[in-house]
Amino acid sequence: MKDKLSLLEQKKKEALAGGGAKRIDDQHKKGKLTARERIHFLLDEGSFEEIGMLVTHRATDFGLAKEKYLGDGVVTGYGTIHGRLVYVFSQDFTVFGGSLSETHAEKICRIMDLAMQNGAPVIGLNDSGGARIQEGVVSLGGYADIFYRNTLASGVIPQLSAIMGPCAGGAVYSPAITDFIMMVQNTSYMFVTGPNVVKTVTHEEVSAEELGGASTHSTKSGVTHFSCANEMECIQYLKTLLSYIPSNCEEMPPSVAYSEANEVREGLNTIVPENPNQPYDIREVVAQVADENSFLKYIKTLPKILLLALRV
Ligand code: HXC
Repeated sequence: MKDKLSLLEQKKKEALAGGGAKRIDDQHKKGKLTARERIHFLLDEGSFEEIGMLVTHRATDFGLAKEKYLGDGVVTGYGTIHGRLVYVFSQDFTVFGGSLSETHAEKICRIMDLAMQNGAPVIGLNDSGGARIQEGVVSLGGYADIFYRNTLASGVIPQLSAIMGPCAGGAVYSPAITDFIMMVQNTSYMFVTGPNVVKTVTHEEVSAEELGGASTHSTKSGVTHFSCANEMECIQYLKTLLSYIPSNCEEMPPSVAYSEANEVREGLNTIVPENPNQPYDIREVVAQVADENSFLKYIKTLPKILLLALRV
């Protein structure tokens, strides 16, 4: 028994090491946190319960039988944020670029199912090169299972996606159909495939930022709702956003205690100018109507094509 327990301890240590010290170092050099560090900062201290820590992929082609990492590139489980239950998956870019294998997908589906059964939000911390190329169509099938669950969960539990690295293919299609999407400026991208593949296939040179950076998706496509300066700000946004929304469609949103400071303020009487031709800042009105410092700006930029249509 002792031997088995020490083997378990050894395997857990191996799982914590992800794709190895060198790749973790590379991740930090790019200004990115690791999958586990992100969970650490997101959840209440000590609340994380991991599921599937020792899972490995089942593939054998292209030398994969010899290259296995415990956890298979995604950390999954549940914990609490300000005491409320949430389910989380956090993709580990240090393992095959966080790409999605059949088993990686099964881990994500498992926590999506549990989130639905327990009426709690799902938070995806995405950092993935998409379908694991070596697994081919089996990996694509994994995405079908995830997309199916995204649609079942829609309108039932909140689905929050933080894009925290270069995400390609399915790693973008799934977040794109969730309720809230945030991106980190200069280190996160959402595209069908990366600039190198674009160049090889179409001979077109395009920068990662232009192709799918936070600036592109917050000012042109309108895909992202929050563009964050860094990963810590992104994690903070996730927590703040969660404090405004209910855990499922049958619950009421969290409420705060009544305070006299929240009463309608006198300033409202003077914000709107008497002269109807004089502009005023609508945010001042919102600030007066909402609880003090409670207004959370949700950016949803209209795609340019829609703006043109409106102008006509
Ligand atoms: C397997 C992958 C991978 C993938 C990256 N890696 N993407 N391994 N499958 N999809 C591996 C790399 O081989 C490398 O391994 C490590 O992850 C880091 O990748 P780099 O390229 O060195 O990093 P970076 O320069 O930051 O570029 C990241 C990237 C780029 C932009 C994501 O790797 C890229 O363009 N990957 C391919 C993206 C893609 O076309 N994916 C398939 C999408 S199709 P080592 O061993 O060197 O560390 C799809 C279909 C969905 O998802 C359809 C659903 C029905």
